[in-house]
Amino acid sequence: MTIKGETIWVTGASSGLGRELALRLAEAGNTVIASARNMEALRDLVEGFSNIHIFEFDVSQREQVSNIRASLEQRYSSIDRVILNAGTCEYFNVHKPDWSMIGRVSQVNFIGAVNTLEAVWGLLLAAPKPHIVGVGSQAVGAPFPRTQAYGASKAALHYFLESMRVDLQLLNVDVTLLKPGFVDTPLTQRNDFSMPFLWPPEKAAVKMLAALEKRQRSYAFPLPLSLLLWFGRSFPRIWLRLMRPSVVADAAGD
Ligand SMILES: NC(=O)c1ccc[n+]([C@@H]2O[C@H](COP(=O)([O-])OP(=O)(O)OC[C@H]3O[C@@H](n4cnc5c(N)ncnc54)[C@H](OP(=O)(O)O)[C@@H]3O)[C@@H](O)[C@H]2O)c1
Repeated sequence: MTIKGETIWVTGASSGLGRELALRLAEAGNTVIASARNMEALRDLVEGFSNIHIFEFDVSQREQVSNIRASLEQRYSSIDRVILNAGTCEYFNVHKPDWSMIGRVSQVNFIGAVNTLEAVWGLLLAAPKPHIVGVGSQAVGAPFPRTQAYGASKAALHYFLESMRVDLQLLNVDVTLLKPGFVDTPLTQRNDFSMPFLWPPEKAAVKMLAALEKRQRSYAFPLPLSLLLWFGRSFPRIWLRLMRPSVVADAAGD
């Protein structure tokens, strides 16, 4: 890997993709700042690595931002990259709607990324070639059933980062938007439907890091899912029929 000797903050590093990314970046000789809420899992991550620094940060809590910023500024003079990875998923049920879910999921997936950027902003801009990396989702490519909360939160994140990229050209800050399909992590292990083109997290992390090395504007994977979603966007009436709750697992039966 060509990414070495950098200081990189990965949020949501206690499991799944964040953990994989943190480990690989540390193995390559970077200083990795790994945050999440589950400190026990983070302590497990750090075992055998003196170059992974862990701290507790609930990205949904803006009240934590000034403390987090202060602790980071005490320890580091700059941060080269931030990987906005922390995320959650809940499925909406139109038969028993939990309206608060929309805000709850957005508070982590979208506002959580904003809060993280607020905390790291000064240190990021102090780096020679700052890089913001957002972990979005292919779910935004076409509407899936029960995905109102998750899809909307990721769509907000996508737009936010794309708009950021426009303004940040002037400051020489790169923005990469990663758009995973289904990856086998604790997040998806809870799913009650079959997931097409499911990737192991190791494979996903390798591909995501390759996109980071090239500072790609965006990287969606796997390709067959991107093609399926293109089809869904291009033929919305057929997509709607394919996605009928009787075809895809339906929360109504819960
Ligand atoms: N797996 C997939 O198929 C897939 C597909 C598309 C996109 N993604 C995205 O990839 C990212 C990583 O997900 P994953 O699949 O690796 O799932 P995961 O194993 O459940 O990891 C999610 C991570 O986010 C952290 N997190 C959740 N809520 C948080 C909060 N309020 N504050 C701070 N950290 C929080 C969790 O740590 P704590 O619980 O310790 O806080 C955990 O480390 C997410 O943004 C997800 O939306 C995943």
